Amino acid sequence: MQIGVPAETQAGESRVAVTPEAARRPLLIGVPKETAALEKRVATVPEVVEKLVKLGFRVAVESGAGDAANFSDDTYRAAGAQVVPTAAELWAMSDIVFKVRAPSPQEVGLLREGTTLVGFIWPAQNPELMQQLAARKATVLAIDSLPRQLSRAQKMDALTSMAGISGYRAVIEAANAFGRFFNGQITAAGKIPPAKVFIAGAGVAGLAAIGTAANLGAIVRANDTRAEVADQVVSLGGEFVKVDYEEEGSGGGGYAKVMSEGFQQAQREMYAKQAREVDIIITTALIPGKPAPKLITADMVRTMKPGSVIVDMAAEQGGNCELTEPNQAVVKHGVTIIGYTDLASRLAKQSSTLYATNLFRLAEELCKTKDGVIDVNMDDDALRGLTVVKEGNITWPPPPPKLPAAAPAKPSAAAVAAPKGHGHGSSEPMSAKSLAIVFGVGALLFLLVGMYAPASFLSHFTVFVLACFVGYMVIWNVTPSLHTPLMSVTNAISSIIAIGALVQIAPPLTGAGGADRPNLLILGLAVLALALTAVNMFGGFAVTRRMLAMFRK
Ligand code: NAI
Repeated sequence: MQIGVPAETQAGESRVAVTPEAARRPLLIGVPKETAALEKRVATVPEVVEKLVKLGFRVAVESGAGDAANFSDDTYRAAGAQVVPTAAELWAMSDIVFKVRAPSPQEVGLLREGTTLVGFIWPAQNPELMQQLAARKATVLAIDSLPRQLSRAQKMDALTSMAGISGYRAVIEAANAFGRFFNGQITAAGKIPPAKVFIAGAGVAGLAAIGTAANLGAIVRANDTRAEVADQVVSLGGEFVKVDYEEEGSGGGGYAKVMSEGFQQAQREMYAKQAREVDIIITTALIPGKPAPKLITADMVRTMKPGSVIVDMAAEQGGNCELTEPNQAVVKHGVTIIGYTDLASRLAKQSSTLYATNLFRLAEELCKTKDGVIDVNMDDDALRGLTVVKEGNITWPPPPPKLPAAAPAKPSAAAVAAPKGHGHGSSEPMSAKSLAIVFGVGALLFLLVGMYAPASFLSHFTVFVLACFVGYMVIWNVTPSLHTPLMSVTNAISSIIAIGALVQIAPPLTGAGGADRPNLLILGLAVLALALTAVNMFGGFAVTRRMLAMFRK
């Protein structure tokens, strides 16, 4: 259904006939000033206003909405927005409201019936708010409920963009409270060791923190219950510290699960060791819908060096550290423990810009016709996941999103029965029947060659066939661990050529007479082959070195 009825025709007069022209009048997006304490972000920025106007919308912004994020009213006006003096006026005129934080009860009171509200809602944690919004007959798109596993949804993923900024800011807060450099230095005044940073939880925020701390020059270690993130930790310059206990920590969808008591015990021992060694701990561990796991105990804090810092990003969910106080920076046992819950808001200009872009991408999905009229299409998996209230009806939780059409099909019984192929290509494995035919034809050919060919040809032919087989097995079994598959294969081929050429050049072990020596032409070709293959091999190593250097600091 299309929501295209402007404010003037909606207010309480449901029986007023709406002409098709009026129904397609561009809707007005209203952006109020955020009212939550400490919130400096704003839901749209001037640069994005221009894009929304191009998409056919009208945009109004409450005066002062962007002040805390360094966007003045004038910059909004210049971008094509109308600046409205009061919140009441803005909410009254808006067909769509873009917000950051969930609306307060006062703001819900200002919400005109039939309006579409977009912002963070957290429907699971706010059942009362959901009821109030439904009572206003609103349509509510909760940006936190976006199905993040859909690749098409990534451009709208405000949770990821905010967590990335927060991870960065957590390191900056830690650096601010820490009394030393992050990077090691050798100066005339003495040698300064690099700071050691431990990151608990390598999700979006944790990975951003790892990259930032490594870029500042610290030695970074990280741990997560999901072993699959180990490569990502390493690629960002960190070291993945494993727990000495085998247990799979993935709970599906890229999130963790609650671990067994045995694992938790082993993890506590490892964390206690890290606490004694490192200077800074940043905790980001979270399991959706559960209180944050307590990973850093008071005893561990006591063993940390004086002047150390803990930034507990999970403070809002109860904290990963036993001594965290939400929204406070406290010093306990000589350790500064930071529990700020507004890390993204502390980088308000950056986070507002990214959030506004996420909402603009959502507006594009809602308004494919580019005429300022939206269609909340409940058949679209991404929009269905986001829509928690539709025209006054609570539609949360959504059904699980449909699997992508390209999901791999289960292998057929024939394919399972067939022997495992070693090919890296996409060719289908041969069926047992065709394999038998190929073998039969091959055996017949061998029989014919054996019956009619001279004996000397037969021995060379056998060696040739065996060489092809061995060569095939050698090349296709090379593990392309560091190299690309192409480089592994060319290096394997080069090695075979080098061995072949060396065999030709080397003096024969038997037959002292010169008759067994290869002639000069063969010798020349072997030397040439050796030279060319050496260029290929050493060139390959040089290129690999340069590629690896690109990932090193
Ligand atoms: P995420 O879900 O992407 O990452 C959480 C990570 O913790 C996952 O990789 C998970 O496997 C890991 N984890 C769970 N239990 C663990 C355990 N027992 N030991 C080790 N690792 C464990 O979440 P995201 O987006 O990275 O956010 C991280 C935290 O930061 C959350 O608590 C989030 O609410 C908070 N946050 C705080 C902000 C602030 O201003 N303080 C702003 C944004 C996010």
